[in-house]
Amino acid sequence: MATLPPSKSLSGIQSGTSPWSIEQSIELYGVHDWGAGYFDVSANGDAVVQVQTSKGEVQVSLPDIIQGMKERGLDMPSILRIENVLDDRIKALNEAFRRAITRYEYKNHYRGVFPIKVNQQCHVIEEIADFGARYHHGFEAGSKAELIIALSKIKDDDSLIICNGYKDAEFVELGLYAKEMGLKCVFVLETSSELPIILECSQRLGIEPLLGVRIRPSVIVDGHWNEDSGDRSIFGLSSPALVNVVEQLKQADMLHCLQLLHCHLGSQIPNIRNIRNGVLEACRFYCGLIEEGAPMGLLDLGGGLAVDYEGARSNSHHSMNYQLDEYCANIIETICECLDPLDIPHPVIVSESGRATVAYSSLLLFNVLDVRDHRPSPLPTHLPDSSHDLLHNLWQVNTDINGDNFQECYNDALYYRDEVRELFRRGQASLSDRALADNITLAVLEKVALQLTQCDKSYPELDNLPELLADIYYGNFSLFQSLPDMWAIDQLLPVMPIHRLNEAPTRQAVIADITCDCDGKIDHFATSQGIKRTTLLHEMREGEEYYLGVFLVGAYQETLGDLHNLFGDTNVVSVHIDDKGHYDFVREFHGDSIADVLSYVEYDPKVMTEEFRKRAENAVKKGAITAAKRKQMMRAFKASLDGYTYFEKEEH
Ligand SMILES: Cc1ncc(COP(=O)(O)O)c(C=O)c1O
Repeated sequence: MATLPPSKSLSGIQSGTSPWSIEQSIELYGVHDWGAGYFDVSANGDAVVQVQTSKGEVQVSLPDIIQGMKERGLDMPSILRIENVLDDRIKALNEAFRRAITRYEYKNHYRGVFPIKVNQQCHVIEEIADFGARYHHGFEAGSKAELIIALSKIKDDDSLIICNGYKDAEFVELGLYAKEMGLKCVFVLETSSELPIILECSQRLGIEPLLGVRIRPSVIVDGHWNEDSGDRSIFGLSSPALVNVVEQLKQADMLHCLQLLHCHLGSQIPNIRNIRNGVLEACRFYCGLIEEGAPMGLLDLGGGLAVDYEGARSNSHHSMNYQLDEYCANIIETICECLDPLDIPHPVIVSESGRATVAYSSLLLFNVLDVRDHRPSPLPTHLPDSSHDLLHNLWQVNTDINGDNFQECYNDALYYRDEVRELFRRGQASLSDRALADNITLAVLEKVALQLTQCDKSYPELDNLPELLADIYYGNFSLFQSLPDMWAIDQLLPVMPIHRLNEAPTRQAVIADITCDCDGKIDHFATSQGIKRTTLLHEMREGEEYYLGVFLVGAYQETLGDLHNLFGDTNVVSVHIDDKGHYDFVREFHGDSIADVLSYVEYDPKVMTEEFRKRAENAVKKGAITAAKRKQMMRAFKASLDGYTYFEKEEH
């Protein structure tokens, strides 16, 4: 991951007294780099979502939506889904393929399928089925449950249902019935052991299957998911296994059922050159199967179309060095180059774009509960003569520091501080000596950080200084529940305040969640100057909420989340924006209650209530509490069971 030295201040602005414009916020948080035109900042400093409507572009303020949520009793944290953005992504993908098809005079069409595993939530799937029908956009199912979703939600018979994953007889029977009803349901063979099951079910039910084969491409792609391809990939057929499947089909007189070649190179492929190479290899397999006598007709290139989370337009893991139009053009051009000389008809192009379809349409909103301020507390005006020599030395360092000696002062301060800590451990320095040493050192480090912002030279040893001095903003969310990829695979997701963007953010910060886990923090941030380990946030104001948003969370995050510390599903709100910029709350889901999450881990809230009642009754018997107190306690217990698992502000 390319990480910039965090010592330089962005735009050179650190002080709350400097004038600040929304353009500086846009630059600081990289909004125009990662927002893909869906997010911006309004003149009054609100983050806005902007969508195209039949009457032009409209913007809706995110703080306004939060206000609407509050009025409806939906607290933070919440997932906000924007239907229009999801629709626009489906349109963008289909239209980009349509443009490339026209440009290269390609003699067939594109059929997208959405891989359900990327976001299985009912509303997301229903919206894709509804809006996608106009493009015959179908679904990819990787399990029986996902196939059931696809079969019940798909709206259009011309859309494809691509069945990947391991398939037992039940799975196969369902798919065969779907085919008999007129749906284009294709079984993709991941292993040769699936074929006998499919052949047996097909014979038993008298329904011929539509078959595909998943190949194991040798092209290894850049990025995190490069194990989906290559010889050691756990998915797909090796070339000998593929030849064997073809033989078996010939023997069963079923080769005419083989119509699709599937090739998934990996997710979030940042480098377009990998995609070209992968498509070329897939085409060679496709031609090989035609030579063997299979009719074919469908070329499924899997997922992999990336999302530029970093906004860097580079081939780093969190970015992409290509645009959507270029992706489509590269695919079509490569297919034509490979197939045309052999006079092989152009196949229907299928892609299984997941993250590029849904990432932009959801964001996580949460409030900040507290800040651990890392500024030194005010130092005394002078040091008593009786203070320990080490404290006097530290004091001197703090007094003498300047632009020429700050590196030396940094080393000296840490040395003297550690000596005081050692004395404290041995019982030879008091708690107040230790506190003073820590505080003077913090003052020195702050001055060093300031000097660093004013000099051009880089000091690698001091790179992590802003991180050491950064405040910790405690957000009302669980990283493990709402942003699991940030924890599991260091996924970068854009984060920024969603209001006050016309004010200078003055505090370098990292963001911690409310789980009791040191991994529950956000400490990598996309900026227009690269990835940084701290971000600038606003000073909290007494009695005022401060809201942050984590953007581009629509792919994978919702269903991979877990119940760490028993923080459950958050509230979810879906809005649809009309051409006047008004929005409707089209769906609302209240997040898990405490009773819900307890039941997920095998507790019975009714039994627990009874156990608590017995305990309280015992206390009454012993005279520890009154019966009236017991009533109050039982009410509090039941209210907690019904309450949200996240931090709830008391309503007065
Ligand atoms: C077979 C298959 N298709 C499609 C996808 C979706 O990939 P992406 O989200 O990169 O589009 C995946 C995810 O890894 C996959 O395994």
